[in-house]
Amino acid sequence: MKWTLSLIALTAIQVISAAPSLVKRATVNDVATLGYATLNGGTSGGSGGPTTTVTTLAALTSAVAGDAKKVVLISGTITGNTVVKVGSNTSLIGKSGSSLVGVGIRVLDVSNVIVRNLKISKVLAAAGDALAVQSSHQVWIDHVDLSSDRDHDKDFYDGLLDLTHGVTGITVTNSKLYTHWKASLIGHSDSNGAEDTPITVTMASNYWFNLSSRTPSFRFGHGHIFNNVFDNNDDGINTRDGAQLLVENNVWTGTDKPLYSTDGGFAVATGNDFGGASNTAPVGTFTSAPYSYTKLAASAVRAAVVSTAGQTLSF
Ligand SMILES: *[C@@H]1O[C@H](CO)[C@@H](O)[C@H](O)[C@H]1NC(C)=O
Ligand SMILES: *[C@@H]1O[C@H](CO)[C@@H](O)[C@H](O)[C@H]1NC(C)=O
Repeated sequence: MKWTLSLIALTAIQVISAAPSLVKRATVNDVATLGYATLNGGTSGGSGGPTTTVTTLAALTSAVAGDAKKVVLISGTITGNTVVKVGSNTSLIGKSGSSLVGVGIRVLDVSNVIVRNLKISKVLAAAGDALAVQSSHQVWIDHVDLSSDRDHDKDFYDGLLDLTHGVTGITVTNSKLYTHWKASLIGHSDSNGAEDTPITVTMASNYWFNLSSRTPSFRFGHGHIFNNVFDNNDDGINTRDGAQLLVENNVWTGTDKPLYSTDGGFAVATGNDFGGASNTAPVGTFTSAPYSYTKLAASAVRAAVVSTAGQTLSF
């Protein structure tokens, strides 16, 4: 009798464990599979290179420097008041529970970089943005967790995720941006069109909440923004200065201007749930992204994105 019961119990456990897991499988050698980062030769970062695990600011700074192919894993909490510059051909990955406090990451004048599963908080404006990509190409940002607080004035911290100075081939997926004043600036300034018009950015399946502005603020280039969730931000997507955005199947709550234009920005918007508010951006010309992708219906986005965005991979 007991034997029969435990056999039944064992069978039940096997059935449960055979069900698809909610935790996505990930490896340190993963390469970008979605969006602009897959074009122009793709984005492989340090995939296949030697792997180093770092636990201090000094070790992190030297491990990510230089353009040789490499995987750098962060373990534990690293605290400081600075930004660390990452070389080309690098995958920088946070282990579960790891965190950078006051330490930002800067991808400047390089190409082929992957930043994954990092948690970054409270980077002071005097040091820089939490995560900045400038004058760089082929960068995949995935499952990052970026935040600060809103207990100071809006310039106490700078941006959470700023993509400026002509960056191309950028994909931002499965990330969480929250509790901050100025979230994400794309395109450096109103007078920087010559450099910023080539910008290409894909933003998919990210969770944005409790932000004041720039969710994102997008100047000049092309942006494909789909399957994101935006909750209780003061601002929405601001398309500016001739930017051409393709905005598909996103979900908003708690803002009265989810998608709007200043200085002649444009958007093609389809399948979005604006949470009772309206899109006021003029219709643009960016109707089809130059890669294949699968998008969820807006009604399925919240359940798929909110619980999986941020530092939820295990390495
Ligand atoms: C970095 O990778 C590129 C190809 O993506 C390659 O051309 C370049 O030589 C690499 N740099 C180094 C220093 O290995
Ligand atoms: C939003 O930000 C405020 C100010 O920093 C903070 O007190 C609050 O807990 C945040 N709310 C959420 C939902 O995280």
